[in-house]
Amino acid sequence: MKKVLAVTILLMMKMMCIAQSITLLDSGTKASIRGLSIVDDNTIWASGSNGYFARSIDGGKTFTWKQIAGYEKREFRDIEAFDANIAVAIAIDIPAIIVKTTDGGNTWKEVFKDTTTGMFLDAMDFDDKGNGVIVGDPIKGQLFFAETNDYGNIWTSHFGVRVSDGEALFAASGSNIKLIDGSKYYVTGGTKSRLFLNNDAIDLNEIVQGKETTGANSIAVNKTNVIIVGGDFSNDTIAHNNCVLYDVKSKHFTVPETSPHGYRSCVIFINDQQLICCGTSGVDVSGDGGLNWKLITKTGFHVCAKAKKGSTVFLAGGNGRIAKLNQ
Ligand SMILES: *[C@@H]1O[C@H](CO)[C@@H](O)[C@H](O)[C@H]1NC(C)=O
Ligand SMILES: *[C@@H]1O[C@H](CO)[C@@H](O)[C@H](O)[C@H]1NC(C)=O
Repeated sequence: MKKVLAVTILLMMKMMCIAQSITLLDSGTKASIRGLSIVDDNTIWASGSNGYFARSIDGGKTFTWKQIAGYEKREFRDIEAFDANIAVAIAIDIPAIIVKTTDGGNTWKEVFKDTTTGMFLDAMDFDDKGNGVIVGDPIKGQLFFAETNDYGNIWTSHFGVRVSDGEALFAASGSNIKLIDGSKYYVTGGTKSRLFLNNDAIDLNEIVQGKETTGANSIAVNKTNVIIVGGDFSNDTIAHNNCVLYDVKSKHFTVPETSPHGYRSCVIFINDQQLICCGTSGVDVSGDGGLNWKLITKTGFHVCAKAKKGSTVFLAGGNGRIAKLNQ
């Protein structure tokens, strides 16, 4: 009996023990970082403004920063790494370009280019079989998509759903689209903010919208739920209408009891019940599946990511800021 009680208490303590702090690392550049991809606990890739990308192969102790040759003026808002040598990055604005390296970032090859007026690639996601999708802002009212099934060597593009006037996507953290078992989950913002499950549109009435600076910025998806964060980046401390939980089966929305403490541009699962989200006004963690959020720092970050094969969580943001979550 005593033993059972002790084990129960231990388990409860473990469940309640959520990460409370971050450690700032020296990144060695002033680039604004919005792309972050962590392969395993040692291998971290990041991408940002002025053509910069970074790679660490020692768990973040040291980062090597370089500019992608020929693209020094481009802003790489998302990166996806497959190991210490192979990664794909996308740049916003025209022409739309996708670049890939297979030698740890020493050389990059342009694998896709589109000069159509209005091109603006926002975010990218891959499953673990090399299938990938990129979403871009609407052109003549229709969202742009590029897809690959060979880890980003060959891309095919097409236009998708029609959206409202002034409804688009934020290229804030590369995390507003997710590829789940062949289905595309993504969120829009601006004049209108919606969640799309493939082509089905679901209004996000609980998220602030109506202005260019408002709406959903990021989603985290597990087998049953979609956690959505966003807000108004022009007023980044407003701590309501910035997060909602959506149950895919019951189609039920749940507004958190304690919302994240401001506009948030990225949210991820740490495990089944623990989540972290970040934005320009700080970082919050939740230990109860996103119902209650606790502010752990007011230091701003654009993006957070967890190791695909591992447990490490990193954050990155403006001014080359990179931090590690203490777990
Ligand atoms: C930001 O939000 C706060 C709280 O809602 C409000 O008092 C303030 O006027 C807003 N500022 C701007 C610039 O919209
Ligand atoms: C999925 O996410 C919800 C909401 O955060 C959480 O309550 C649930 O436990 C998670 N389910 C699984 C299977 O991880």
